[in-house]
Amino acid sequence: MTRLQLLKIVNIILALSFFAVSIPGIIQFVTQGAIPYSTFRAVHPIAGTVFTLAGFTHIALNFKWIKINFFKKKKK
Ligand code: HEM
Repeated sequence: MTRLQLLKIVNIILALSFFAVSIPGIIQFVTQGAIPYSTFRAVHPIAGTVFTLAGFTHIALNFKWIKINFFKKKKK
């Protein structure tokens, strides 16, 4: 599997886990408990962990781009 193929899969996981963590998270914050706590407790921390790991993997797979664009040497 190439880096770009892996990146496409990671990006889909990143998007889905972002929605799975942020939408119920915001609903729970705004409504203060519309989602039953047992459901929120089962889904939110797992979705949050998947989201965090996918985020780190996304950064690792794009690290070359980050180095070129953010850490390039200044021309004199
Ligand atoms: C947009 C992002 C997020 C929002 C809006 C959000 C929102 C919330 C809210 C409102 C609660 C409190 C729920 C309650 O006590 O009724 C909560 C709890 C929690 N969140 Fe998040 N969260 C976000 C991201 C994350 C991420 C990325 C992680 C993990 C890496 C995470 C892990 C947890 C855990 C472990 C709890 C405690 C659950 C419990 O009470 O047992 N959250 N979050």
